[in-house]
Amino acid sequence: MIISALKSTIETDTRSPIHIDTINTLINLGVDVIFQEGIGDGINVSDKVFNKLGLQKYSREDCLKKADLVITTQPLTEDELTLLNPDSTLLGTIDPFNNQDLINACSRLKINLVSMEFIPRITRAQKMDVLSSQANLAGYVAVIESAKHLSTALPMMMTAAGTLKPAKVFVIGVGVAGLQAIATAKRLGARVEAFDTRDVVEEQVNSLGAKFVKIDLGETGETDQGYAQELTEEQINKQKELQSKVCERSDIVITTAQLFGRPAPLLIDNKTIDKMMPGSVVFDMAVESGGNVEGSEIDRVILRNGVKIIGISNLASKVSSHASLALSNNFNNWITEFLDKENKTINFDFSDEILNSSVLVHNGEIINERFKQ
Ligand code: NAI
Repeated sequence: MIISALKSTIETDTRSPIHIDTINTLINLGVDVIFQEGIGDGINVSDKVFNKLGLQKYSREDCLKKADLVITTQPLTEDELTLLNPDSTLLGTIDPFNNQDLINACSRLKINLVSMEFIPRITRAQKMDVLSSQANLAGYVAVIESAKHLSTALPMMMTAAGTLKPAKVFVIGVGVAGLQAIATAKRLGARVEAFDTRDVVEEQVNSLGAKFVKIDLGETGETDQGYAQELTEEQINKQKELQSKVCERSDIVITTAQLFGRPAPLLIDNKTIDKMMPGSVVFDMAVESGGNVEGSEIDRVILRNGVKIIGISNLASKVSSHASLALSNNFNNWITEFLDKENKTINFDFSDEILNSSVLVHNGEIINERFKQ
């Protein structure tokens, strides 16, 4: 079996699906790993280093033509898919909700498609969970980037030149990214408050030394996969009104609220931003999936009455080496789990819950219910 690792074609995504610290996992499986030239440019690893580890480099085109299994951090174009052999497998973070054309093309060309975004949230699959591994780093980056835009320091400092008050940080949405944002802001000495519609997270917020903001929205809850239920318009309006007071007193507001497969809820509108202090920062972590903040734009800092509204794409890529290490481990774990060690082929046994959920296309057929229409 030949596994081809592709370089991202997106300028803001400098991650690599292979990493020098994790590549032995694949090599030890007895498969051949080849890579697109320059794959390590964004993580300070030259082609020579990968060569020394026994991997051969090729052009992108040749990587596609030779592959039995492609691993990638970004979706491929339809033209690129035509270079793949029928019955080969494409595995990666392919943003399936925004790439129905890719799913249809894989079906037409008989390319098996595995979306790592569809790894189910069960304990056995945690080691393959790319959404969590990347959201964790994104939460860290959001705090660091916000801190850079603030004109004050985060920790309290008692100096001969006066006492400097700690910054106040408000985190909205306490999933994987939100928890890491809270932990990072706390480590930097900020005073942190947080809110989530899933009140089960209150204990986690408290255990990090932050304060959970109680907002009664009536019936909320979570899905069986642990994702938040969508709120009604009335509930969203109530949330906006009640959390507005917390935004007003915060130096940094970080929003992380997402709804799997649907646009993110708009939680901070101009009315709230206009009440915030000049110099404060609103960091919209959901900017790529519709945005939690009115007026936020991808890869731009918008200034509104002195408040900085920040949206950055591919946040995990800002710490690309760690992001690549985690991501490559996720990919390697999927491959190790489902590779038939004798025949060196993927064992598509759909009685397995992880395989059943993450494989969108097999043998020319779209098998995931959400994408069948
Ligand atoms: P996510 O990225 O889908 O959303 C981020 C957060 O925003 C969630 O906590 C969600 O409840 C919250 N949210 C949604 N609408 C909101 C609103 N209107 N206001 C405030 N907050 C809102 O969530 P993520 O990070 O993927 O995690 C969701 C849960 O799943 C977490 O409890 C996490 O620990 C759990 N999880 C479990 C895994 C497992 O394998 N068992 C793996 C990964 C996560």
